[in-house]
Amino acid sequence: MKTQVAIIGAGPSGLLLGRLLELQGIDNIIIEAKSPDYVLSRIRAGVLEQGLQNLLREAKVNQRMEKEGMVHDGFALTFSGREERIDLKAHTGGKTVMVYGQTEVTKDLMEARTASGSVTFYEAEDVTPHDMYTDTPSVTFKKDGKQHTIECEYIAGCDGFHGIARQSIAADAIKIFERVYPFGWLGILSRTPPVSHELIYANHERGFALCSMRSAMLSRYYVQCSLEDKTEAWSDERFWDELRARLPEKTATALITGPSIEKSIAPLRSFVAEPMQFGNLFLVGDAAHIVPPTGAKGLNLAASDVYTLYHILRKRYKEGRLDLIKKYSEICLRRVWKAERFSWWMTSILHKFSDDPFNQRIQEAELSYYTSSEAGRTTIAENYVGLPYEIIE
Ligand code: APR
Ligand code: PHB
Repeated sequence: MKTQVAIIGAGPSGLLLGRLLELQGIDNIIIEAKSPDYVLSRIRAGVLEQGLQNLLREAKVNQRMEKEGMVHDGFALTFSGREERIDLKAHTGGKTVMVYGQTEVTKDLMEARTASGSVTFYEAEDVTPHDMYTDTPSVTFKKDGKQHTIECEYIAGCDGFHGIARQSIAADAIKIFERVYPFGWLGILSRTPPVSHELIYANHERGFALCSMRSAMLSRYYVQCSLEDKTEAWSDERFWDELRARLPEKTATALITGPSIEKSIAPLRSFVAEPMQFGNLFLVGDAAHIVPPTGAKGLNLAASDVYTLYHILRKRYKEGRLDLIKKYSEICLRRVWKAERFSWWMTSILHKFSDDPFNQRIQEAELSYYTSSEAGRTTIAENYVGLPYEIIE
């Protein structure tokens, strides 16, 4: 089999890249280790920056998002028993974010790919990239007991944090930057109306909490928990009590609770692999970097990598611009590190790192300072709505 771009991984990165290339007539094949149902069963954050919304529009998969997505022009920070709203729109010249689940984005992209007839191999085993430092790379895999080879010009490693693309690179060719946080997030989904029409990020001496949503009747809530915690130890009742304890009184009183329909614990990590490209193999999204979810940047950062690679490949195939190919990593990393910084910062001011009350007061002072200053609010708002994409020229 032959194609122009072999894409490893059918998460949001791989599917979005594949769709954008396909609309430009650039042939691509996706090779995914899991089944479509498994890919769609993962529940993840759902705050879309305008850059990602525009990319989904360009990919012509925006119909359901425009209908069901919820535009948010602000969010709240709570600390010291008070609530401060960050007006995203007012501080960014009119920018907003859209709340629309990542699972829905993935579903829309999968449906578009099925309708277009582009080739995808699901449940592929032993996926292996080869010869990425040559002009004739390839990807091999097994499917239903048969061995396959895809000859290609470029390989996009869109296979997430545990994927094979990054792991296939010699350890001395790659530099890893990492921070693992000493806590996790316990999240639940419940068929209840959200406590507020906007997201609430709570700093509290008992630990962080987040009130989010998927729709008018579907809420997503999180509390910071210990890494040793098990979901079985958290009854719904214990979860709701803990959430209420971490919210200002007015919000806690307004909270409507119900049975959870999903409950899971996720660790928090900051991670960057440099460079993001090895000859004709590019790392895209979680394959190259992870952010803690506090800034809602994971999917958005994957989208800016996709934007960069899509435009570089478009210029390569439409204008013969081979010079841009080598620039992928440096262009991506400039934005990646800024989003890493914001996600790390949001994590550090909102979570409980120790029992030291000094730390708690410093966090409260920092939140109070930022929210009482125009400059502070602007800094938070412009990072939250997403820093601009670098135009590829
Ligand atoms: N071969 C083929 N596919 C693989 C392999 C492999 N060896 N290893 C992993 N995959 C697949 C996974 O099954 C998954 O479907 O690659 C896909 C990677 O998808 P994601 O992990 O969702 O990563 P990505 O597409 O980059 O999505 C961006 O940013 O932080 C986040 O939550 C956000 O998941 C979102 C991500
Ligand atoms: C979510 O709704 O799952 C969510 C929202 C915002 C975040 C993280 C997760 O920062």
